[in-house]
Amino acid sequence: KCRLFWQLCQATTNQIQTQTQTQTRQFRVAVIGAAGGIGQPLALLLMTNKLVTELALHDLEATKGFGKDLSHISTVCKVKPYFGEDGMKKAIKGSHIVMITAGMPRKPGQTRDFLFDTNGPIVARAACLVSHYAPKALVGIITNPVNAVVVVAAEAMKQAGSYDPKRLFGVTTLDVVRAEKFIGEHMDVHPYEIRIPVVGGHAGTTIVPIFSQCQPRFKGDKKCIASIVKRIQTGGDEVVRAKAGKGSATLSMAYAAARFTNALMRGLKGKSCAPECAYVESDVTDAPFFSTPLTFGRKGIKKNHGLPKMNESEKKQVKVAVEALKQSAAKGVEYMNKMR
Ligand code: LMR
Repeated sequence: KCRLFWQLCQATTNQIQTQTQTQTRQFRVAVIGAAGGIGQPLALLLMTNKLVTELALHDLEATKGFGKDLSHISTVCKVKPYFGEDGMKKAIKGSHIVMITAGMPRKPGQTRDFLFDTNGPIVARAACLVSHYAPKALVGIITNPVNAVVVVAAEAMKQAGSYDPKRLFGVTTLDVVRAEKFIGEHMDVHPYEIRIPVVGGHAGTTIVPIFSQCQPRFKGDKKCIASIVKRIQTGGDEVVRAKAGKGSATLSMAYAAARFTNALMRGLKGKSCAPECAYVESDVTDAPFFSTPLTFGRKGIKKNHGLPKMNESEKKQVKVAVEALKQSAAKGVEYMNKMR
C-alpha cells in the first residue's frame, strides 16, 4: 500500500514538473546591438517578461559583463551573451524573435536618413544571417532610418534565399507611445486608456497619427490637433536636442520595443492582443512598405487591418507620407541591388 502511495506521489510530481517545464519553455529572443543605449534597457525589460525564457545578447564589443549582470535578476530567463562577427550567427540561431537595434544614433541637426550609409550595411548583414540561421524568426528593426533599412533587410533576406513579409517589421511603436502620452497629458486621461492608430512610417511627416479614430474621442480644436501631431512627428528630434550630442531616444524606444516584442510573443502563443502598428510590406497604399494596425499570430502577421477611417486632412497627410515612403523604399532596393 505504502509503495503504491509513493508511486502515485511520484507520478503526480513528474506530471507537475512536466507541466511547469512546458509552461516555462517560452521564447528565445535575440537582441542585436545589445550593449547599446537601446539594447541594454530593452534586454532589461525583456528579462522581466515571463514569455522570454532565453535572451541572446549580441554586440560587437563584449556583452559578457552586462550579460552576467542581467543574469543575476531572479527571473526564469537565461542570458546568453555573444560578441564579434561569429557571435551574431550564434545569437540568431534558434531565436524565435530577433530585435535589431545595432547601429549609430543621430546627432542634433541630422535627419534619420543621414544614418543610412552607416546603418544600412549593419542591418543587411543581420538580416542575411536571420535568413540563413533563423528563417522562421520574427524580426523587429529598430535601427534608423527605419523607413529605408527595413526595405534593405527585406532585400537582403530575398538575396539570402528566405524572406517572409509576414515576419519582418519596422518598429514604429514609439510613435504610438508618444501619441498616447501627449494626448493623455492634453486630455488628462491615463495614457493606457488612449488608443490611436499611427500610420505611415517613422520619420517626420511620414508619421501620421489618426486623431479622428482616437479613443476616447479627442477633445480639442484643429489648432490643438496640429500642434500635437507636430510634437509626435518631431518627438525624436526633441530627444536628440535634449541629449545634445549624446544620442537619441533610448529608454522610451526600449519601452516601445519591449511592448512590441510582447505583442509578437502573444501572437506566437496564439493569445489575443490589441493590434499594434508596424512598418511592413503592404499593398494598403502605393508605398511598398507602410505602417498600419496589425494583429499577430503564430506565423507573424495574422491580419493587416489596413488604413483606418480618416477625415480629409488625414487623407492628405497619408498622401504626403506615401510619396516620401516610396522614395525611402526605392533607396533601400537600389542599395541592395548595388550589393549583389
Ligand atoms: C526616435 O523616434 O526617437 C528614434 O527614431 C530616434 C531618432 O533618431 O529620433
